[in-house]
Amino acid sequence: MKILNIVGARPNFMKMAPIIEAMNKYPEHINHLLVHTGQHYDEKMSQSFFNDLGMPKPDINLEVGSGSHAEQTAKIMIEFEKVCLQEKPDLVIVVGDVNSTMACSITAKKLGIKVAHVEAGLRSRDMSMPEEINRLCTDVLCDYLFTTDHFADENLKAEGVADEKVFFVGNVMIDTLLKHKKIASTLGLMNQLGLQTKQYATLTMHRPGNVDDKEILLGILEALTEISNKLPIVFPMHPRTRKMVEQFGFEKYFNFGDNAEGIWVMEPLGYLEFLHLNMNARLVLTDSGGLQEETTVLGVPCITMRPNTERPITCEVGTNVMVGNDKDLILKEAFAVLNGRQHSGDVPEKWDGHAAERIVTTLVENLR
Ligand code: UD1
Repeated sequence: MKILNIVGARPNFMKMAPIIEAMNKYPEHINHLLVHTGQHYDEKMSQSFFNDLGMPKPDINLEVGSGSHAEQTAKIMIEFEKVCLQEKPDLVIVVGDVNSTMACSITAKKLGIKVAHVEAGLRSRDMSMPEEINRLCTDVLCDYLFTTDHFADENLKAEGVADEKVFFVGNVMIDTLLKHKKIASTLGLMNQLGLQTKQYATLTMHRPGNVDDKEILLGILEALTEISNKLPIVFPMHPRTRKMVEQFGFEKYFNFGDNAEGIWVMEPLGYLEFLHLNMNARLVLTDSGGLQEETTVLGVPCITMRPNTERPITCEVGTNVMVGNDKDLILKEAFAVLNGRQHSGDVPEKWDGHAAERIVTTLVENLR
């Protein structure tokens, strides 16, 4: 059985790493190649994750780079079609919801190649998010849909996906987190930065809905500034956000220096470093998808600056609350945490470090 494993952007790497590791236990059944589309290409957005996670170098890199959605998706499809024709895989595996996920699914399926989607069935019901379009297009085509929770199973059922295509396996990103938690806890980064346990917040923010509109970004920055007067906020800034901050002339809201004060900007961090900072943070502020899940498992309060989530389980059992980009709501929720509000932080079913093994055994049984 020949499998092409696809990665493209930063949130894909920690999802694919445990799948590759699980596949390596079946050398007699599985011949697998790693394809990197090149959607993310900066050292800090890509290679540093391969190093931290011990991932093999990609066998093939499509080197598509950045572009508009249509340009990027089209470039991936053109280049990936050549790879499929050359390699003739039995199966293509895609993870998550980035443009690379959708582009490779469509390309493979049109060539009659089976496709498996890891993290299927998540829905925000928000078609203004490119990721929601990617999720819908990918799931409708796939032969194997591996899900992380009961919400995803219910979404797929409601969309008429046949039960026998859906496999509730748990969360591969949590496989990676549990594997690396111990080593991340031993890093000295917090001390090097002059931070103390539970005496700072971390922030990620890069969604077009938050950073591409000047007024919206301004409202968020005003709220964050107020929070940072009480608790320094560590902000590894995404390249998209940096570009927009420069364009709007919003540099004055940030501390670009080397002292732990205000909204303290740094370059994007590696996987282990960022895990280290998140597990010791008092609070996480984010518009990311994955961090909502990671904080749920770490038991760290998470405030998500989005109007909706495709990961409602993190609000149901975890530590996550949704605040959109409403300045007052961001402040209300952040100060509730600073004033001692506790969250339960339970861990959802099957987020136990064995999701990738379940995926690979399912594939071996089904494809044999
Ligand atoms: C993409 C994903 C998003 C994910 C995010 C994680 C899609 C539609 N979006 O968003 O779901 O949460 O990755 O980071 O797939 N850039 C660089 N260096 C890089 C990569 C990007 O400078 O290595 C800059 C470029 O200016 C680029 C911009 O960031 O135009 C946006 O990159 P892109 O991959 O299009 O989308 P992200 O915002 O990163």
